[in-house]
Amino acid sequence: MPKHGDLNAVPAFLLDWFDRHGRDLPWRLGKGRRRDPYRVWLAEIMLQQTTIPHGTPYFLKFTERWPTVDALAAAPDEEVMAAWAGLGYYARARNLLKCAREIASHGSWPETAADLRKLPGIGPYTAGAIAAIAFDQREAAVDGNVDRVFARLLALKEDWASAKKRIHAEVSALVPAKRPGDFAEALMDLGATVCTPTRPNCLICPLSKLCMARAEKSPEAYPLKPAKAPKPLRTGTAWVIVHKGHVLLVRRPHKGLLGGMLALPSSEWREGSPDHADEPAGLDWMECGEVRHVFTHFTLHLAVRRADVSRRPAGPDGQWVPLEEVDGLPSVFAKAFRLGTGRSKG
Ligand code: ADE
Repeated sequence: MPKHGDLNAVPAFLLDWFDRHGRDLPWRLGKGRRRDPYRVWLAEIMLQQTTIPHGTPYFLKFTERWPTVDALAAAPDEEVMAAWAGLGYYARARNLLKCAREIASHGSWPETAADLRKLPGIGPYTAGAIAAIAFDQREAAVDGNVDRVFARLLALKEDWASAKKRIHAEVSALVPAKRPGDFAEALMDLGATVCTPTRPNCLICPLSKLCMARAEKSPEAYPLKPAKAPKPLRTGTAWVIVHKGHVLLVRRPHKGLLGGMLALPSSEWREGSPDHADEPAGLDWMECGEVRHVFTHFTLHLAVRRADVSRRPAGPDGQWVPLEEVDGLPSVFAKAFRLGTGRSKG
């Protein structure tokens, strides 16, 4: 009988559970089959900052439109950026394209985590996940879910930085030589469906007999993370300028937040008092309200103002797009566009 905190039994318990309860996801091809690295990579990049329910439709759209890495590499930047809109973190979409083009020109995928890490947009977690899932390498893929599972299994009380190091070492040592990819995905599934942040379902957990946090009757107390600092608040204004059924859109500078995306013209977003310096002058503005959006490092309250003009104003420079064709704006601008126009798309 394994004891609490004795992790040697983890791989066998977990893989047995995965065979019965692993999720059927579109980038997985069924038990024991080697996966397509393009699909594995694409899913990992998309799921870095979003949930499976939100990310899956994007995955299906991308793989239908660009079924291979060569097809994606050959796609025009604007089309890929527009298809990515709504997933956020647009630097990732640019790295996605860069990476696809490197693979296409090289002619094949690198198979080790060390080589995968050299590609744009691929960090240690993603490299480990692709190496294990697509290439059967004995590599660990430790994300927040896995951190949580192991913080509980071991009831780790040390500070979070050293706990994370310990977790990485423990998981790496446990990855089985056979089925390393299934092991990685089993941990992801366990973290997402059983060992959840709140109200973990220990009664159905294949690892409950080994779990020290469960033995302490306090799984939810782990991980013991330091409290997060609140996000700063920035404010700004987005301008919906309409002329004969067309709205003015601008391309954002390539560097910086939402870089390279088509957007509504807007003021700078900053903490403290709002900035009116760049407001197009001489227009008759109507206040439409405010949209709120949470970015990684700050919360934004964006006032929306609309002006209907009979002549196109001199600035800002941009393109006039028929209102009914506006689609694929980054989420915050889509919200502002819908508020400013009463339309349902954006
Ligand atoms: N989250 C990130 N990658 C995943 C994968 N391959 N399966 C399930 N959830 C994931």
